[in-house]
Amino acid sequence: MEIYFISFILASIFILPIALKTFSPYVWMDFLYFGDLLRILVRFVARRRRRPFFFVLDRFLEQTAAHPDKPFVVFEKESYTYTYTDTRSNKIANALQTLPDYKAGDTVALFMGNEPAFVFTWLALAKLGSPVALLNHNIRTKSLLHCFNCCKAKVLIAASELKEAVEDVLPSLMEQGVTVLLMAKHCDTPGIEAFTDKVDEASDTSLPRSLRSHITFNSPAVYIYTSGTTGLPKAAVVNQNRLLTALAILSSNGVLPSDIIYVNLPLYHTAGFLIGFIGSIETGSTIILKRKFSASQFWDDCRKYNVTVVQYIGEVMRYLCSTPKRDNDKDHKVRLAIGNGVRAEVWREFLNRFGNIHVREFYASTEGNVGFVNYVGKIGAIGRVNFLHRNLFPYTLVKYDTERDEPIRDANGLCVEALKGETGLLVSKITDIAPFVGYAQNEEQTERKRLRNVLKKGDLYFNTGDLMRIDKDNFIYFQDRVGDTFRWKGENVATTEVSDILTISDCLEEANVYGVQVPGHEGRIGMAAVTVKKGLQFDGSKLYKHVASYLPSYARPRFIRIQNAVEVTGTFKQMKMKLVEESFDTGRIQDPLYILDDSVKSYTPLTAQVHSSIITGNLKL
Ligand SMILES: *[C@@H]1O[C@H](CO)[C@@H](O)[C@H](O)[C@H]1NC(C)=O
Repeated sequence: MEIYFISFILASIFILPIALKTFSPYVWMDFLYFGDLLRILVRFVARRRRRPFFFVLDRFLEQTAAHPDKPFVVFEKESYTYTYTDTRSNKIANALQTLPDYKAGDTVALFMGNEPAFVFTWLALAKLGSPVALLNHNIRTKSLLHCFNCCKAKVLIAASELKEAVEDVLPSLMEQGVTVLLMAKHCDTPGIEAFTDKVDEASDTSLPRSLRSHITFNSPAVYIYTSGTTGLPKAAVVNQNRLLTALAILSSNGVLPSDIIYVNLPLYHTAGFLIGFIGSIETGSTIILKRKFSASQFWDDCRKYNVTVVQYIGEVMRYLCSTPKRDNDKDHKVRLAIGNGVRAEVWREFLNRFGNIHVREFYASTEGNVGFVNYVGKIGAIGRVNFLHRNLFPYTLVKYDTERDEPIRDANGLCVEALKGETGLLVSKITDIAPFVGYAQNEEQTERKRLRNVLKKGDLYFNTGDLMRIDKDNFIYFQDRVGDTFRWKGENVATTEVSDILTISDCLEEANVYGVQVPGHEGRIGMAAVTVKKGLQFDGSKLYKHVASYLPSYARPRFIRIQNAVEVTGTFKQMKMKLVEESFDTGRIQDPLYILDDSVKSYTPLTAQVHSSIITGNLKL
């Protein structure tokens, strides 16, 4: 750590004059970014050296001491100060301590939507030195049990409205001897204990530090489930060290103690939890917590609570931009939007509609060891190559074979670095300061994210699974997720790109694009599951015209499947597996299906007859 730090400072001194001489309009901003990076590192190193150890909880306690009466969490009509949050979490912790089958340090699973109790309970468990598994509150039955079992939790704490979901899996939990607590005053179900009454009666005295004396920087702090668009979710282990680094995310992007932060993304995921919640602990800001994202309430909330900072994911921006225009669109105090995944055209539209908001697009993943931030506000980019950053956290783009779904290797078995302007797979060297902790109880999935023999025999990189491109000005652009690209007629088709084009057509609301296999053809042909805008009819010839004018022929979706709703995961990621499997099989699909017909320049209904002639090879695509 120290060695890196010193070399970093030395590098800054020697490199800066050179950097300033090279002609680039962004040099000054790069320079400021070096400064930010340096400040973050200095602070991080200083904290890592503190004894007793300094963790995120300690930062919360510092903030509480500094401004006890400041609101920390505002939820619907209630406002909770830092002091209230602190004492309420003491009560929860003390109530937990009285349970016979729980001892401080045991892993606890939290099954709860966005509400203040989520925050209080997490802090309580931090005070008890217990790792917390953040279960997605939308999952049920098999998936719920799978996630619960991933992290060997002894206790499950559930929100009262999730009682039925808990009852579904109760026999299995009871068999394992799990203590099941419900955040309610009463509960009649045998095997589920009401917990709120115990919390209300518990003492609010603070918890002795000794309860968490066993914790080190490598101890798991939270388990965050990466939303599985394929297969069952995986529990990414977020250790204390990583949690400590997460503190810097908002502060390094200019968020101040005076800011009011709108947290409307789920707290069980990285964006809401690590960036929104943990990030606000560092800045000591006020969180406006929202049960869930609502495009129609978004700006009204911002006005009502004087919100200054909002969080987004690409879909949030897209939904906001597709709400009906209003006269007061620019009437708000939001100055900063921070998040990731916004497409360039949505970004432009967002600024047009909602005014001069600084959009801080960044790139990071829950379990990954590399991140970027677009600190110059270049529309469409996720970040910028920065000499120092790249030296501290070596990463590169390697050429990728999308057909075989693996990196291209040269004669020596090593990967081939992509050139400027070329798309490649982002891989990042696994080092002491850029570790990859992996997934709980899942060595196989963990190993799948490791890439060996990348630039040298025996080296080890983290495979982000993301395809990127770096342009001549050193801006980094996200291209696609691996697997979100398919090849047709020898060309790569990026599904997100096609889906963007489809959704700007007149009649389509949403589009989920994927490739399907056709007998007798290499690769996959494009297909889109779409929803039609309310009150409109699907117009095959209009869509054909739109698609033909925007997309090269190989990228045009050959099949269209009209759905009432596009299935999404908890973070609005589109589900593809089932769609790909059902393909364009008229025998299996009830939804209306259309096929692109060049001879009549339209999408025409796909009949069982046409389907079978494609399958038998009589109709060539
Ligand atoms: C928002 O700001 C206005 C003007 O500064 C102030 O009058 C109002 O009380 C604030 N609202 C809240 C909820 O803090």
